[in-house]
Amino acid sequence: MNFENTLAFAQQMDADDKLSGFRNEFYLLQKNNKPVTYLCGNSLGLQPKNVKNAIEQELHDWATLGVEGHFDGKNPWMYYHHFLTESAARVVGAKPVEVVVMNNLTANLHLMMVSFYRPTQQRYKIMMEVSAFPSDQYAMETQAKFHGFDPNDAIIELKPREGDYTLRTEDIIEAIHTHKDSLCLVMLGGVNYYTGQFFNVKAITEAAHQVGAIAGFDCAHAAGNLNLKLHDWNVDFAVWCTYKYLNSGPGGTSGVFVHEKHANNPDLPRFAGWWGHNEKERFLMKKGFIPMEGAAGWQLSNAQIFPMAIHKASLELFDKAGMDNLREKSILLTGYLEFILNDFSDYLTIITPKNKEERGCQLSVIVKQNGKHLFDYLVENNVLPDWREPDVIRMSPVPMYNTFTEVYELGELLKKYFIKH
Ligand SMILES: Cc1ncc(COP(=O)(O)O)c(C=O)c1O
Repeated sequence: MNFENTLAFAQQMDADDKLSGFRNEFYLLQKNNKPVTYLCGNSLGLQPKNVKNAIEQELHDWATLGVEGHFDGKNPWMYYHHFLTESAARVVGAKPVEVVVMNNLTANLHLMMVSFYRPTQQRYKIMMEVSAFPSDQYAMETQAKFHGFDPNDAIIELKPREGDYTLRTEDIIEAIHTHKDSLCLVMLGGVNYYTGQFFNVKAITEAAHQVGAIAGFDCAHAAGNLNLKLHDWNVDFAVWCTYKYLNSGPGGTSGVFVHEKHANNPDLPRFAGWWGHNEKERFLMKKGFIPMEGAAGWQLSNAQIFPMAIHKASLELFDKAGMDNLREKSILLTGYLEFILNDFSDYLTIITPKNKEERGCQLSVIVKQNGKHLFDYLVENNVLPDWREPDVIRMSPVPMYNTFTEVYELGELLKKYFIKH
């Protein structure tokens, strides 16, 4: 695509965009009676308009049916997680049996570690990216300690080469082979939260399996952003949150993937609760845990109806738009942002990979001087990216609701700023 830095070009791209109608499905922000360009979908997605009705439906059923809402509600609460499974599976490229929606991300990560981090004295190491999201770091650190290992020894951190901002796939694979006898688990973000790098999940999983390790991914920044194929890539397990690209509200629920090859193994150790128990017998209140088939067998508690109602409404939009179409637009939209930002390379360095196969919506930009000042200027001028210490602005144009014209106008705003500073 030959991009042009003109309003006419951006407007034509918007006119040709077959997903443009989805923007109207969201509440778009306004500040001082002017529209805000929201570039924070990597942090908290905007609110879909259909969420309100979805919540009101459940409030209504609760108000009018009380406990009987579990069976007689429009969407019986007893089975609520089932209503999410197929759409969530489509989003991450999984079979429905491999996916369940439950809890929050970090809680799910620990549940997965119980089953898939089973260290021995010889094979006990966890490989992760250096400066992974803190919650993942804390989870790995405390899991290693829980099993009696020193995290400084048990955790291998992958660091970019001197002068690089992101990891090279060949270096990750080499590191896996270097630690082939001691590696228990490779646990990476699907997309690194800071740099926006999308890892080669398939190649990394293959390498982990070659040395006898498990491959797990935190897809918080990948789900709803990239066209994942967790089943085909043979990933062992994955977790993700739903409040970022999946637009399912602050503190929203989370998704879990357990590959089919593990899903029917009742012998995997796990921490269980009644909602993971054989659904047909759940209310017989019997002794002895019998897990449900698939990821559903990792559930603990009865469904959180309100966060799940939001997620259900949001997933309807993903079903309508389709991940293939979203990804196609996303490549163009983020490509256009990169094209616009390249004009400011004296002041900004994009640290996200240039290769579109190695990134999703997000571009992370190091501001060479006074980054916070630039960030505040953007916010004052109705553009909302996010700021990460010490000097990075993350910008994520999201194909569901952002436009090419917004990206063009961001470029105009930057021109005005850099003329003065
Ligand atoms: C990569 C990553 N992992 C974990 C988390 C923590 O998620 P939660 O608070 O839902 O457990 C986040 C939150 O932003 C994240 O970005």
